[in-house]
Amino acid sequence: MVLAVGSPFQIVRTTGIYVDGGSAEVTSIGEMLAALIRRPTGFPVAVSPIGTQSAGSIILRLAPDRAALGDEGYELKVTSDSVSLVANRPAGLFRGIQTIRQLLPPDIESEMGLERYDWSIPALSIADKPRFAYRGAMLDVSRHFFTVREVEQYLDVLALYKLNVLHLHLSDDQGWRIQIDSRPKLTAMGSLTQVGGGPGGFYTKQDYQDILRYAQARYILIVPEIDMPSHINAALIGYPELACSARPPALYTGTDVGWSSLCVDKEETYDFVDDVIRELSAMTPGPYFHIGGDEVKTLTPEQYVKFIERVQTIVNKYGKKMIGWEEITKAHLNPTTIAHQWKSDSATAAVAYGSKLILSPAPKVYLDMKYTPATELGQHWAAYVEVRDSYDWDPATYMKGVTERDIFGVEAPIWSETLRNITAVEYLAIPRLPAVAEVAWTPQAVRNWESFRTRIVTHQQRWNYLGINFYRSPQLPW
Ligand code: ACM
Repeated sequence: MVLAVGSPFQIVRTTGIYVDGGSAEVTSIGEMLAALIRRPTGFPVAVSPIGTQSAGSIILRLAPDRAALGDEGYELKVTSDSVSLVANRPAGLFRGIQTIRQLLPPDIESEMGLERYDWSIPALSIADKPRFAYRGAMLDVSRHFFTVREVEQYLDVLALYKLNVLHLHLSDDQGWRIQIDSRPKLTAMGSLTQVGGGPGGFYTKQDYQDILRYAQARYILIVPEIDMPSHINAALIGYPELACSARPPALYTGTDVGWSSLCVDKEETYDFVDDVIRELSAMTPGPYFHIGGDEVKTLTPEQYVKFIERVQTIVNKYGKKMIGWEEITKAHLNPTTIAHQWKSDSATAAVAYGSKLILSPAPKVYLDMKYTPATELGQHWAAYVEVRDSYDWDPATYMKGVTERDIFGVEAPIWSETLRNITAVEYLAIPRLPAVAEVAWTPQAVRNWESFRTRIVTHQQRWNYLGINFYRSPQLPW
């Protein structure tokens, strides 16, 4: 809900930010807003405890009586005198700051110290909270490896659009990308290449901690994925005794899928799976572990189901909730398990187990799909996906038998077969990722393509300042 009234708030040299003094977390959110304002304005923007403020202040406050705002909702009231941001939880303050950012002129993203600029925020009153609890993006760091800094750059984009999950696809046939101490050959032998034959790479535990910390500061959860029992070739190079694949394990730089598999009838396979899930769960603070489970072409249905059910037990044993691609609904799922729809309506079977769904319908939100036949990057096996396709759909009516209540959230995956660096990722993600972010955040009744298309083009100047690559869709009024 937005109400606009009166003259704007002006940020000037003396503007200060006042925060709930008792909370170090709110202070650090205040510091993030201060840093954002200092960079382009050159103003000092002090951050101080509430109680000493005068007119002309920006106030960030937690209010326990605003429980209805949930974990991420916020209320923003801007008058010519003050900016007041209130939330039930710190994450709501962080989301609200992104709104303040978007209400300021695009030059707020510059670094030029534009002291004499008119830094105004329109007078308004907003009460805002997300439609879905899980609003994600996935980055495939296996087909091509992305550095920690590149992952952080993508996290910055997620934060700007109020997404709260980055799902990292950490292993596939082409590369194993995460250090596991009990299985050192995973990275020593399985990380050495990528699609097309480049050098690949992997995250050390310290690298992974760095990514987690960067994400946490932006209230973004990391969901790690180890794809199994197929998409597993990179793991089998160092541990060939676990292989039941059609081809002998060797470094693989192509893009076929479904041909590799763990031997699911061997006990030692489950020792391996236990080692990996135990270590990766211990280094991941979030409650979810994604086990892949997709595109298995070399096992019988019985073998597949038995494997998924055993892995579910292992994931739960280490205190995590399992997420798996929609194929896992062939197995008996626990109600805490989440089925990740991507290609069909088979995920509806999850509802019968009391499980919830994440929706990533490929013809809508697979960001590696080409926009049009002329798009140089990406694939097109699901569809050509223009910006309007990503925006103009309703998760609650997308699948028969699935209602709003059954949906945990929406995620936009990006598979990296054709994407060698984060600039290429951004070209496919922008403006579709902001479109999906709005699908996931904003209630259906107040979403509308005409409004989105005119609002999103105004972000062009921000993307330019931030060095974010994007696609100039002919559907938008640039
Ligand atoms: C998938 O795209 N194979 C989940």
